[in-house]
Amino acid sequence: MRRPFIGGNWKMFLDAAEGKRLAEELVDVTKDVKDRDIMICPAFPLLQVVSRTVKGSGLFVGSQNMYYENEGAFTGEVSARMLQSVGCSHVIIGHSERRHIFHEKNDLIQKKVAAALQAGLKPVLCVGELLDEREAGKTETVVREQVDEGLKGVAAKELENIVIAYEPVWAIGTGKTATPEDADGVHSFIRTLVADLYGAHVSEALRIIYGGSVKPDNVDGLMTMENIDGALVGGASLNSESFTRIIKYQT
Ligand code: PGA
Repeated sequence: MRRPFIGGNWKMFLDAAEGKRLAEELVDVTKDVKDRDIMICPAFPLLQVVSRTVKGSGLFVGSQNMYYENEGAFTGEVSARMLQSVGCSHVIIGHSERRHIFHEKNDLIQKKVAAALQAGLKPVLCVGELLDEREAGKTETVVREQVDEGLKGVAAKELENIVIAYEPVWAIGTGKTATPEDADGVHSFIRTLVADLYGAHVSEALRIIYGGSVKPDNVDGLMTMENIDGALVGGASLNSESFTRIIKYQT
């Protein structure tokens, strides 16, 4: 039985005061939730205040990005160690907005995954196809390459510290969600890929979460699917009421 994982990606929203308030509300409303992992990912300047706010609550704090070097002259970048020093346990890597707005390629993403693991940060590796790739029937080709490349050099034992998020790009922020069956099909494809790479045992334990317009009114259906182990939520994670409803999904 895989432990469900629900992440909130705040993207470039909320200032420090707003982030602190939302974190306080989430601590309060999730007190009784013990059977799933919950992660929130504020923007860099909010990480420390949010980490302090959720300390002791069991909520995890993740970053939305990182760089793979330990330190150096890399203006504007942050390292895994810096993120840990402000309370992060997780890091989103290869989010589609990083891939498509900031042109991050699989080889860079692979280096980030390796550096995060090396430092003891848990990567949430995002994969997913563009609309034209889906329409051209290339979903599996694209996802296979992103998974293969993203996990290159990762040892089987390290997979327990990774979550894969399948986020079809056409469903992010658009209000269009993949149907539970479509999403589950790709999740099952990813699980097979991981089984080929690492064996069935490892792939059965891997959490594969879905992202792309997850909302209170569609989360229950998604979470009934066999291969959907959680959600990565953007817009609906910015409000404690909607995010709480997602965290407390019912199947
Ligand atoms: P969305 O974003 O829920 O607003 O579609 C999801 C994501 O980008 O992780």
